[in-house]
Amino acid sequence: MPSRGLGLAPRLHYLADRARRINVGSVLERAKETAAQHGRSTPVIVADMLWSAGFRQVGFQDYVDYDFAILNRAERATYMTHPVSNELSQKYDHPDFRHLFQDKVEFDRVFSDFLCREWMVVEPGNADAVREFTVRQGTIVTKEPVGQAGTGVHRYHAADIADWDEFHRGLLARGELLIEEVIVQHEDLAAVCPGTVNTTRVTAFFDGEKTHILAIAQKFGRGAVSDQMTFGGFYTMLDDDGHAVGPGYDSHSHVHVRHPDSGFVIADFQLPMIDQVKEFVDRVARVVPQVQYVGWDIVVTPDGPVLVEGNWGAGVYENKPSVTGVRTGHKPRYRAAIGF
Ligand SMILES: Nc1ncnc2c1ncn2[C@@H]1O[C@H](COP(=O)(O)OP(=O)(O)O)[C@@H](O)[C@H]1O
Ligand SMILES: [Mg+2]
Repeated sequence: MPSRGLGLAPRLHYLADRARRINVGSVLERAKETAAQHGRSTPVIVADMLWSAGFRQVGFQDYVDYDFAILNRAERATYMTHPVSNELSQKYDHPDFRHLFQDKVEFDRVFSDFLCREWMVVEPGNADAVREFTVRQGTIVTKEPVGQAGTGVHRYHAADIADWDEFHRGLLARGELLIEEVIVQHEDLAAVCPGTVNTTRVTAFFDGEKTHILAIAQKFGRGAVSDQMTFGGFYTMLDDDGHAVGPGYDSHSHVHVRHPDSGFVIADFQLPMIDQVKEFVDRVARVVPQVQYVGWDIVVTPDGPVLVEGNWGAGVYENKPSVTGVRTGHKPRYRAAIGF
């Protein structure tokens, strides 16, 4: 599909970069699984995956995750994909301001009014301050500020720590330089998974005047510190009223009609305070207007939404047709808001 307004050069760069990193074995593996799941032949799927990647800007994982094998051409065209999302990030997130999102310490500084929780930075010589903070909180979340792709978040309990100097040294050595108070989530979120703070991913575009909500996904954890897929998490898309569109799923072929631990029926989930969530996203989207296309991670608490982080490389959350029965994606909303 033509993508007016998005440059050819960045697209070629992106494709070349992807081509260098293609792992042929894993592509074949994914094609085989996809073919088996949908009763198609593997060579046909491989050819279709390659053609879609080369000519339709569909990543291999996009093809698998959004069941392109069972979608027709018109349905496929409604799907947002990672290569297209990447182009939007490159075009609408100004390079000079990306670091404010990339670095979690910078982010907490810039967006401190929207965090609604205490946080501090680990530095040489501040073991006493770390101890005071941790003992007062009881439990803390620590973060490696940059580029850990979903693995750099940890949780500690003050009761487990005997040697505070050693704990402090360990944080510094491992690069866990940001400490945060644990967010207390709304009871409707805790009902699904109480052991993890379950975030709502709101992908939005700020056009200089108005904030457009492009897609809303609800992530659920499995009791670990993080609700990311690397920690066993999964998601479901929400409609404009904040209601789940269907069961949950991840990028590793797991489908969850019910939350595996609590038994909560995912399709019954209703995000509380959806109007406040939209107002909140509108406010945070105006803080750094040079970064227009962002995937916001927010949590609804008993007192309203709070901010976890903003991702300038927004990623893609879409409907999975074989799970939800919904065979269309969110791309028309992106096009209408952004005009590409
Ligand atoms: N202060 C916090 N309190 C409780 N849980 C948190 C907190 N910060 C993050 N989390 C959990 O960890 C997940 C990942 O945190 P995030 O800062 O978004 O890092 P990343 O997505 O880069 O791994 C969140 O989605 C949430 O489940
Ligand atoms: Mg996140």
